[in-house]
Amino acid sequence: MPPTTIPSTEDADTDTEFDAFFIDDAFERPSLPVLSATATVHPRCCLALSAPLLAHLQILLPCSPDIILSIGSGYGLLEAHLISAGLCVIGIEVLPSPNRCLPPTHHRTVSGTRFLHPLAGQAKAWLFVYPRRVGLVQEYMNIFGTGGVQKVIWMGPQMDWDEHKACFAGNWDVDVRGADEVGGKAWDLIAVATQRHTEPA
Ligand SMILES: C[S@@+](CC[C@H](N)C(=O)[O-])C[C@H]1O[C@@H](n2cnc3c(N)ncnc32)[C@H](O)[C@@H]1O
Repeated sequence: MPPTTIPSTEDADTDTEFDAFFIDDAFERPSLPVLSATATVHPRCCLALSAPLLAHLQILLPCSPDIILSIGSGYGLLEAHLISAGLCVIGIEVLPSPNRCLPPTHHRTVSGTRFLHPLAGQAKAWLFVYPRRVGLVQEYMNIFGTGGVQKVIWMGPQMDWDEHKACFAGNWDVDVRGADEVGGKAWDLIAVATQRHTEPA
């Protein structure tokens, strides 16, 4: 499998591959909590996590070197687990970032909650985990949704889905299920939106 090459960006502190290596090397990786067989709420993640849920996400998400963008990654706990499992996840956060778990090579920032990160145009999949603002999901879909992204996974409280589902209208097939069906808590929902491919006429 070819090594993952993550494009550097202006806001990253990593201008060269050497810098990226050096900074990543200096980053003190926190030890990740071991995920149990049943969903548990961890202090650093809104979504309740479990080993089965992580395994389910690994099946849904594209393999490295395809880029997966997690938009609003917070502390980065879920994302760090996915990286440990071999996926190429990059967490996007607003400055000053609350990130604690992601190395600089796997973390990018934007200047404010209204900003979008252009790496979305190069990612094969996006994650929105407990997004606060529907407008953020909608803006990403409007601006980058017709690019290379094939899959968008939305995970959040069941009660928030009603206002978010309209973001996936149009050219998307959406599979919605309770998170408890795949290793999460019953109050959470997982929606997997897959870009519909239309055959040329
Ligand atoms: C409710 S928190 C969820 C954090 C994390 N996904 C979790 O499950 O713990 C929503 C996050 O979205 C981030 N956010 C808001 N607007 C954003 C934007 N435009 N780009 C990236 N992140 C954003 C916030 O800073 C916040 O950390």
